[in-house]
Amino acid sequence: MSSKLFLLLQHIAFLSMILFQLEPRVADSNKIKIRCVDEEREALLTFRQSLVDEYGILSSWGREDGKRDCCKCRGVRCSNTTGHVKVLNLRTSDYEFARRKFLKGTISPALLKLHDLGHLDLSNIDFGGSPVPEFIGSLSKLTYLNLSCCTRSLKIPQTYRKLSGLEYLNPENSNLLSVGSLEWLSHLSSLRHLDLSCVNLTKSSDWFQVVANLHYLKSLVLRSCALPPINPSFIWHFNLSTSIETLDLFDNNLPSSSVYPWFLNLSRNILHLNLAANSLQGPIPEAFQHMVSLRFLALSSNELEGGIPKFFGNMCSLNELYLLNNKLSGQLSELIQNLSSGCTVNSLEGLCLYDNDITGPIPDLGGFSSLKELYLGENSLNGTINKSLNHLFKLETLSLDGNSFTGVISETFFSNMSNLQMLYLANNPLTMKLSHDWVPPFQLKWLSLASCKMGPHFPKWLRTQSQLILLDISNTGISGTVPDWFWDLSIELFFLNLSNNHIKGKLPDLSFLRSDDIVVDISSNHFRG
Ligand SMILES: *[C@@H]1O[C@H](CO)[C@@H](O)[C@H](O)[C@H]1NC(C)=O
Ligand SMILES: *[C@@H]1O[C@H](CO)[C@@H](O)[C@H](O)[C@H]1NC(C)=O
Ligand SMILES: *[C@@H]1O[C@H](CO)[C@@H](O)[C@H](O)[C@H]1NC(C)=O
Ligand SMILES: *[C@@H]1O[C@H](CO)[C@@H](O)[C@H](O)[C@H]1NC(C)=O
Ligand SMILES: *[C@@H]1O[C@H](CO)[C@@H](O)[C@H](O)[C@H]1NC(C)=O
Ligand SMILES: *[C@@H]1O[C@H](CO)[C@@H](O)[C@H](O)[C@H]1NC(C)=O
Ligand SMILES: *[C@@H]1O[C@H](CO)[C@@H](O)[C@H](O)[C@H]1NC(C)=O
Ligand SMILES: *[C@@H]1O[C@H](CO)[C@@H](O)[C@H](O)[C@H]1NC(C)=O
Ligand SMILES: *[C@@H]1O[C@H](CO)[C@@H](O)[C@H](O)[C@H]1NC(C)=O
Ligand SMILES: *[C@@H]1O[C@H](CO)[C@@H](O)[C@H](O)[C@H]1NC(C)=O
Repeated sequence: MSSKLFLLLQHIAFLSMILFQLEPRVADSNKIKIRCVDEEREALLTFRQSLVDEYGILSSWGREDGKRDCCKCRGVRCSNTTGHVKVLNLRTSDYEFARRKFLKGTISPALLKLHDLGHLDLSNIDFGGSPVPEFIGSLSKLTYLNLSCCTRSLKIPQTYRKLSGLEYLNPENSNLLSVGSLEWLSHLSSLRHLDLSCVNLTKSSDWFQVVANLHYLKSLVLRSCALPPINPSFIWHFNLSTSIETLDLFDNNLPSSSVYPWFLNLSRNILHLNLAANSLQGPIPEAFQHMVSLRFLALSSNELEGGIPKFFGNMCSLNELYLLNNKLSGQLSELIQNLSSGCTVNSLEGLCLYDNDITGPIPDLGGFSSLKELYLGENSLNGTINKSLNHLFKLETLSLDGNSFTGVISETFFSNMSNLQMLYLANNPLTMKLSHDWVPPFQLKWLSLASCKMGPHFPKWLRTQSQLILLDISNTGISGTVPDWFWDLSIELFFLNLSNNHIKGKLPDLSFLRSDDIVVDISSNHFRG
């Protein structure tokens, strides 16, 4: 045998060895790659026909080669073993949402062909007020249903003092998806997560009965649903699932008498409770005492009175307590004493008492070592700002604005606050004593010092703050000219207020400022141009 032929044979043997090695692997991966079921692909495409997709969100859906495997389409997930569609999630990303890119249309009954569908998320689709179809109740395997709407606003609100990160009402979307009886939901007895936010449930007088009989429900989210009050005689007849961990009834105008009686049934397992923007009145009820697992509690924008009961000091898991915009009163020192009486002092990361009637000076807060957000703005607090705040080195947000704090704030006050991102000290008779060459330990995003005393020079230390989104240094006694570097800095700004100072000089060309949503107020100065 010539050596050439030998080499060739060897080569073939080698190749076939590789082929034999590869073959089973190819077969294996073929098995894994089950294409989607034809009938379900067609059902999805029919479903898409009832949607208006102006932005090509579903462009990966189709019959063409390369798109045929509907299991790989955007928002679709199939069972690894049967190939049946299990997940349909058409939620758009925050990026798309911020650019107002979402789907419109109606919900097609073609969905019923997806027999194994367990997870259906149609949140942020604009259904233009058309009713929720009852046939969804026939999707018997659903454990997750999300029809939440798109009223989230990513813009900085005009009244920025209502603060970022907090709840604020946004009745921009007045044409809500509507619905009558929720009887159809009762067929989905294995639902674990239900979110019908912004679905108009005014005429769904059976809503409480229906959800109270969904025994596996872990998460119930009904934000801005215009819920009718619950008939008190139902409350005692129907269990609200004891497995509930998340209950969010934000913005429903519910009175205390509709809400408080459930508490006895929720008790120990609830982790996340949002009752903000309802009509709760009177003192914070004792019923919260039993909710020992709470991590998040929001009771903002109600008409609650009095203080924070002492048992709040024993909620060892409480991370966030939002009581913004109520009528709470009492001395802050006593309130803080109540909160410090047990283990809460170690767990609390966010405390919001913004816009209440709380009085007195700030007591020692140094014990709240986990605190990241502290909102004490718009109360009747006074005295000098307690130095113990300096020990809160995790602090990201500090709001003390709209009180009567006096005294001088110097650089040492901030020396431990390297994580600070939002600082609101506006509208206090405070004096800021910060030297020109100060290099702060933080990079702020939001800064409001309006009506504090700060001039006469333009604060040079601002040059170190390259991430500012909001800057309000109006009415702070600044005179002289704005340094050139400042206009470079302000490229990222969405809100700038320099008004009511004595600033001179030529007004720069402001046309370089981004986007049309930005607010700039430079009135009542001595600008030229
Ligand atoms: C399919 O398998 C992948 C990888 O093993 C896994 O991440 C995924 O969760 C599985 N999907 C389903 C629906 O079981
Ligand atoms: C439903 O979708 C909205 C928006 O897409 C989301 O914020 C919310 O957390 C979802 N609800 C549940 C219960 O997952
Ligand atoms: C809800 O629907 C009722 C009529 O069914 C209507 O009067 C009401 O204005 C709607 N509420 C919202 C917030 O759309
Ligand atoms: C209340 O819940 C229990 C178990 O969670 C269940 O056995 C019972 O039937 C429920 N009662 C009503 C009236 O739904
Ligand atoms: C719900 O609370 C009522 C009133 O206390 C009680 O009679 C009922 O047994 C509770 N149901 C459950 C499931 O805890
Ligand atoms: C402190 O706790 C007591 C007992 O719960 C309560 O009556 C009082 O109103 C609380 N005070 C403040 C200021 O929160
Ligand atoms: C800070 O609070 C502690 C405790 O209430 C108090 O003793 C101290 O005087 C306060 N300091 C200032 C400057 O108010
Ligand atoms: C704080 O206000 C109260 C009443 O509003 C007043 O009695 C007290 O003297 C004030 N304290 C300071 C330090 O200004
Ligand atoms: C910064 O925090 C540490 C630890 O809590 C504390 O010892 C120190 O006094 C603080 N610095 C100032 C300037 O208060
Ligand atoms: C700017 O600040 C001034 C004084 O603090 C205030 O009156 C004005 O409303 C502010 N401008 C805007 C657009 O918020």
